[in-house]
Amino acid sequence: MTQGPRLTPLAESLPASVPFVGPETQERDRGHPFIARLGANESLFGPAPSVIEAMANAASETWKYGDAQSWNLRVALADHLGVGMDHIMVGEGIDGLLGYLVRLTVGQGDRVVTSQGAYPTFNYHVAGFGGELVTVPYRDDHEDPDALIAKAREVDAKLVYIANPDNPMGTWHDAARMQAMIDAVPDGTLLVLDEAYLEFAPEGTAPAIDPDDPRVIRMRTFSKAYGMAGARVGYAIGAKPLITAFHKIRNHFGMARVSQAGAVAALADQDYLAEVQAKVTVARGRIAEIAAENGLATLPSATNFVAIDCGADGDFARRVLSELIARDIFVRMPFAAPQDRCIRVSVGDPADLDAFAAALPDALAAARNA
Ligand SMILES: Cc1ncc(COP(=O)(O)O)c(C=O)c1O
Repeated sequence: MTQGPRLTPLAESLPASVPFVGPETQERDRGHPFIARLGANESLFGPAPSVIEAMANAASETWKYGDAQSWNLRVALADHLGVGMDHIMVGEGIDGLLGYLVRLTVGQGDRVVTSQGAYPTFNYHVAGFGGELVTVPYRDDHEDPDALIAKAREVDAKLVYIANPDNPMGTWHDAARMQAMIDAVPDGTLLVLDEAYLEFAPEGTAPAIDPDDPRVIRMRTFSKAYGMAGARVGYAIGAKPLITAFHKIRNHFGMARVSQAGAVAALADQDYLAEVQAKVTVARGRIAEIAAENGLATLPSATNFVAIDCGADGDFARRVLSELIARDIFVRMPFAAPQDRCIRVSVGDPADLDAFAAALPDALAAARNA
């Protein structure tokens, strides 16, 4: 036998890749920083001052592990959501929770349904546990609840995933449509309803939470509207047996103490959230204006980013994207056609969007001349 680790056949079979090349990696490769970080749907408005203060106060306690039950945060979330705390699982962002959920439910060869070009980190977890991913196309730039459910039924899926509002297009369905989707979930399938961007969506986007409904698990995060992406705090809301199952496999001390303190403070500061929501609305309008000044259309968005239709095919949009990156503007774009005719621009402060506005005409011209 040779020296060194013996990976499982599954791990051996996986490509040595990660789903995202992060902006820091790109900056290192380029040898200089971006001037506008508009590619990761972070909140450029930052966390509330009250959150920064709470995290700073918690910093001197960081020699202690975080509370393994995230008790205070779960109490605060339970109060905020009007559900019992046994229905809430806190984890290392939605990404971490998706990994736990897939580990709990998906074995080798189990089928999982999502949309072609939807949030890729979920797919990465499915592959990592040997699941078989089955996709359905978007419909009119929206994820398609009917097609997702029909496919889940057809392939006897363990999980069916939808983000509402959606990333990368920013589109959304209303609560009635989502409730109809929940009601149509086939026996033996669990609906994963990713609501990462819910705080940016119009009232009436989220169906009412029925905490005992075993057909759906909801995922939400402090990374977006609360401006805490780097702190890694997300939570799942679901029926007690499923929530309890997470404890069998989760990283017991996965939550940083500082992050727990920050999230409690963030939830308490709903005034700040309202300020951010107002700024996001203004910034979405500004992105639409910038696009229009360049003869481009935008998709309506219920998120903190806007998809700009570059008006041609995916190859053209990829050229626009790389020309923007060459001009130090970090943006991303959808992976799958025909959504890849768009670039995806996160909202930011006026200065960030001015930098984008300054770079876009040249980037478009360069892409057209290539
Ligand atoms: C749809 C969707 N879900 C989840 C996440 C990740 O959330 P978190 O930072 O809580 O892991 C993102 C981040 O971009 C997202 O777009």
